[in-house]
Amino acid sequence: MRLTFAITRWNPETDTHLHEEDYRLEVSRGMTVLDALIRIKNEQDGTLSLRYSCRSAICGSCAMEINGTEKLACRTSVRKEWERHGQIAVAPLRNLPVIKDLVVDMSSFWGKIRGVTPWLSTIPRAEIEQAAGQLTLSPGSYQFHNVDACIMCGACVAACTTHEVSEGFLGPAALAKADRFLADPREPVASKRMRLTELEKDNGIWDCVRCNFCVQVCPKDVGPLEAIIRLRRATIGAGLVSSGGARHVTGFADIVEREGRLNEALMPLKIARFNLRRMLSVIPLGIKMFVKGKIPNPFARPIPGIGQVRAIFNALRDATRVPGRTHP
Ligand code: SF4
Ligand code: SF4
Ligand code: FES
Repeated sequence: MRLTFAITRWNPETDTHLHEEDYRLEVSRGMTVLDALIRIKNEQDGTLSLRYSCRSAICGSCAMEINGTEKLACRTSVRKEWERHGQIAVAPLRNLPVIKDLVVDMSSFWGKIRGVTPWLSTIPRAEIEQAAGQLTLSPGSYQFHNVDACIMCGACVAACTTHEVSEGFLGPAALAKADRFLADPREPVASKRMRLTELEKDNGIWDCVRCNFCVQVCPKDVGPLEAIIRLRRATIGAGLVSSGGARHVTGFADIVEREGRLNEALMPLKIARFNLRRMLSVIPLGIKMFVKGKIPNPFARPIPGIGQVRAIFNALRDATRVPGRTHP
């Protein structure tokens, strides 16, 4: 079968903008998109640039956009893509600067990984001997939730909707990496608390909008969104609740637990926490809600059966105590 591959090209020395070029190729059974791109480069156009190494979904270097979704080219079947989409369109990863053709600059990606301190914090010499028996992980003493399976391909960052509008956002891969170290029982509690203090700042865990795209595109089932939710939970569990995101979540939960439903009239108070500057900033929103008839009675009574709602909250609190995780 002879198929057309529409490949996005860009040469910084000659092109002013990205453009597509079509290549026709006879495809064979079991051929991957990476196989096809290598054939095109070797047989038709040696100027085509792409990045790859292991060809086995291990090194993470061949991530690119294939028919609009971030995938590893070395484990994406040409035939299946054709059957599903009726075309093979290949482009570089989004949200990262293009160096040439399908090769993107991963510097910011690595910078963010480094930014979450992806190593165990140093234990003072005096504590090393004392902790000697605890420096080896024993089965059952930890639960990394598969976040250590990350191959740093960058697909999640390319798919991230927050990253699209906010380049400073730490991003799903770095936050998943942070979760892996937070789950490590060998790190001192004080260090974990310092991690969370950094992660709750702007561009950290509370900037994720939970679109779930990072989970959908990850080739290794790392589940970055679940990692972010664990980090949020740990942050609140550690009493770090002064950030806007934490105030919103805890305020929302408080109201529902007390009344059995959300009372929008009380949310601004929960978020602003009687801080005058914050209160003034929510007044325009309050006026709009009042005009639209969206402000319920702030003194409404709890719903009938409120005891059952509170029982759910209590059960949730018990269920979310993660075994093996030491909360800072
Ligand atoms: S769930 Fe959060 S981290 Fe994942 S892609 Fe969406 S905004 Fe980004
Ligand atoms: S979390 Fe998944 S998609 Fe993101 S860099 Fe790691 S392996 Fe790739
Ligand atoms: S070439 Fe290594 S993951 Fe695809």
